[in-house]
Amino acid sequence: MKIATVVGARPQFIKAALVSKAMKAAGIKEVLINTGQHYDRNMSELFFDDLKMLPPAHELGVGSMLPVEQVAAMMTKIAPILSKEKPDMVLLYGDTNSTLAGAVTAARMKLPVAHVEAGLRSFDMSMPEEVNRILADHVSSILFCPTKVSVENLKNEGITNGVHEVGDIMYELAVKTADTADKRSLILKKLGVAGRRYILATVHREANTDSGPRLASIIRGLAGVKDPVIFPLHPRTRKMIEKFGLKDKILKARNVKVIDPVGYLDMICLEKNAARIITDSGGVQKEAYFFKIPCITLRNTTEWTETLENGWNKLVDVDFRRIISEAGSGARTGRYVNHYGDGKTADKIVKVLNGGAWGGKRG
Ligand code: UD1
Ligand code: UDP
Repeated sequence: MKIATVVGARPQFIKAALVSKAMKAAGIKEVLINTGQHYDRNMSELFFDDLKMLPPAHELGVGSMLPVEQVAAMMTKIAPILSKEKPDMVLLYGDTNSTLAGAVTAARMKLPVAHVEAGLRSFDMSMPEEVNRILADHVSSILFCPTKVSVENLKNEGITNGVHEVGDIMYELAVKTADTADKRSLILKKLGVAGRRYILATVHREANTDSGPRLASIIRGLAGVKDPVIFPLHPRTRKMIEKFGLKDKILKARNVKVIDPVGYLDMICLEKNAARIITDSGGVQKEAYFFKIPCITLRNTTEWTETLENGWNKLVDVDFRRIISEAGSGARTGRYVNHYGDGKTADKIVKVLNGGAWGGKRG
């Protein structure tokens, strides 16, 4: 059995880590294809080091360009590799342009597709990720759903065959890494912050970075928060802060500490020990929930709807007043339910892949 996996962006390296190891242990040959959508060391290679992953077999080096050109360039480079490698199946993660390119290429080459994180929906088609995940799901023969809600979403679109609820792969990794992160990461010391005495913030969603007023409102919100705010800055956001002339506003905000994107262990350590997390990231919203850290989400929708239960996660969009008031609000006391599985997701995925039950078309 041979599986070609297509990854390319930071969260995909993270999601692939455990599944790649479980495939190897189960005797499945994996050919890892990295599109190069993310290429800065601290957005790519660092995760291979932190998570002790084998380097990709194929580096496509596509890099940044207009989204349509980027997907087209990826497809053009993925196709000959699939022709040469002749995998039994193509494995994809999440909802990025790399996911879409892998999905469409595999489908047109009549190769079966397996999609990890299938069935997620924000019901907001203006998000590029929503388009990517819907298209990927609709060409997949095996759909690995993290939650019950994601299974229901697929059912509502008529997809019931090949659907497997396996729990969330990021949950498994976060839980398995938490202790090591606490022991090995020096990030709190390096930043001079104490546990529960700071807020962690991340921003990179297109709708927030590519609008001057929205980005300005987020920065005003972060600047107005009482606690120190640790802000690992995504390269997209750094670029847009400069473009919209907002750099001074950040520099003037004495409570906001801008740092470069951090590795996985440092990030888990920062998340676990934060008083609050402010983010527009899908993965970071979830990790906040895993660690029971109240989350303030800079969007008006989320595909991770379970996190909203009992107020653990709140959608505040980019209203700076709400960012400030939610960041200063009291501790959450609501009931907490784990919706993300039993921490054995990688093995479940591999068991299904090894069962070879995908032959033929999804009905
Ligand atoms: C992408 C995904 C998004 C995911 C995010 C994870 C799509 C449509 N979006 O968004 O779903 O949540 O990754 O982080 O696929 N850049 C660099 N260095 C890098 C990478 C990016 O400087 O290593 C800059 C470039 O200016 C680039 C911009 O960031 O144009 C955006 O990168 P891109 O991969 O297109 O989108 P993300 O915002 O990272
Ligand atoms: N992450 C990280 N370092 C950072 C920011 C995020 O390791 O500086 C991790 C985070 O812990 C999570 C993943 O990256 O596991 C989320 O990726 P991102 O926010 O880039 O994308 P999304 O989840 O929104 O697609």
